[in-house]
Amino acid sequence: MASQLDNSIALARQFIQSSIERLPEPAQNVVQAPLAQKALVALLALGIIRSTNDYLSKWTINNWQRAKPFNPATELVLITGGCGGIGKQIMEDLAKRGIKVVILDIQEPSFKLPSNVSFYKSDITSTANIKEVAEQIRSNHGDPTVLVNNAGLGFDGTILDEPEAKIRATFEVNTMSHFWMVKEFLPSMIKNNHGHVITVASMASFAALGEMADYCGTKASAMAFHESLTQELRYWYNAPKVRTSCIHPMWVRTAMIKMLTDAKFDQPIMTVQTVSDAVVDQIVNQDSGTVILPRNLSYYRLIRAFPSWLQEVARGIGSKPFLKMRKTQPYSPN
Ligand SMILES: NC(=O)c1ccc[n+]([C@@H]2O[C@H](COP(=O)([O-])OP(=O)(O)OC[C@H]3O[C@@H](n4cnc5c(N)ncnc54)[C@H](O)[C@@H]3O)[C@@H](O)[C@H]2O)c1
Repeated sequence: MASQLDNSIALARQFIQSSIERLPEPAQNVVQAPLAQKALVALLALGIIRSTNDYLSKWTINNWQRAKPFNPATELVLITGGCGGIGKQIMEDLAKRGIKVVILDIQEPSFKLPSNVSFYKSDITSTANIKEVAEQIRSNHGDPTVLVNNAGLGFDGTILDEPEAKIRATFEVNTMSHFWMVKEFLPSMIKNNHGHVITVASMASFAALGEMADYCGTKASAMAFHESLTQELRYWYNAPKVRTSCIHPMWVRTAMIKMLTDAKFDQPIMTVQTVSDAVVDQIVNQDSGTVILPRNLSYYRLIRAFPSWLQEVARGIGSKPFLKMRKTQPYSPN
C-alpha cells in the first residue's frame, strides 16, 4: 500500500515536471519560484479538500445508495404553484422531456397546457381541498413520484405595517402546506422506497432582512422541514432511496418580486430558467441535496457562522433594496 502511494506521488511529480518543462522559459521561472510552488501546493490541497467535501456531502445525503435510473415513462411529478413564475418553467421543462406532470395552483393557467400536463385548481392551505384533489390525481394518474413544494407568497411591509392576514397566508403557503402535501403524497413513496420531495426555499432561509420577517421565517422553516424530513426518511421509515432536495434561490425575476424589480434594483437577478434547470437536474439525476443559486454564492449558507458584525453588514446589504424602494413608494397594506 505504502509503495503504491509512493509510486503515485512519483508519477504525479513526473507529470508536473514534464508539464512545467513544456512552458516557455519565463513562465518556467515563475512557476519554479519557491513562493509560486507553495501557492501551487496550497491550491492543489484546497482542490482536494473541496472535492472530498463535495463527495462526502453528496453521498451522505444520498445514504450511500444509488437510486434506480429515472424513467420518464413511469414518473409523475406534482408541482405546487405551477401556473406562474418558477413553477411554470419547471413544468414546461419537464413536459418537454416527455415527463407526466400535474400542477396544482389557486389560479387557472393563462396558457395552453402541454398534452402531458394536467392542472388541478387547489388552495394548498386547505387540507380538505388537498385531500379531495389528491384523490382525483391518484384515480386519474396514480401516485406522484416527485413532489415539488414550490408555491409561495411574499409580501412587503415591516412587522408593524403588514396586515395579520398577509402574515398568516405567507406561513400557510410557504411552510404549513409542505406538511399537508407530504402527509398526502409521501406514504406511497416510502412504500416503494422511490420518490423525491423538493422544497423550494430561498436564500432568505439563511438571512432575515427588513420588510421580510414573515417570508424569511417561512423559508428558514421550510429548510428545517426539509432537514427533518430527510432524517425521518432515513431513520424512521427506512426509505433511503426517497430523495429530498432543498433549493435556495436568490432573487428571481417573477411576479413575486415585481414591486422590487420595478424600483431601482442593483442586486443580481436570476431568470426562472436558472432555477428550473437546477430543479430538473435534481429530479432526473435522482439526487438529494442542497442547491444554492446562483451556485457561485453557495458560501452564503455560512452566513450564520460569520462573526456578528459581519452578519449585520451582510443583512444590511440584503435589506437595501427595500429601503431604496421606500424612497419612491410609500408602503400600502393592499
Ligand atoms: N422570485 C424570487 O425572487 C424567489 C427567490 C427565492 C425563492 N423563491 C420561491 O420560489 C417559489 C416560486 O415563487 P415565484 O417567484 O415563482 O412566485 P410566483 O408568484 O411567480 O408564483 C407562485 C405561484 O404559487 C401560486 N400560489 C400562491 N398561493 C397558492 C395557494 N394557496 N395554493 C396554490 N397555489 C398558490 C400562485 O398562484 C403562483 O402561480 C416560492 O416558494 C418562492 O418563495 C422566489
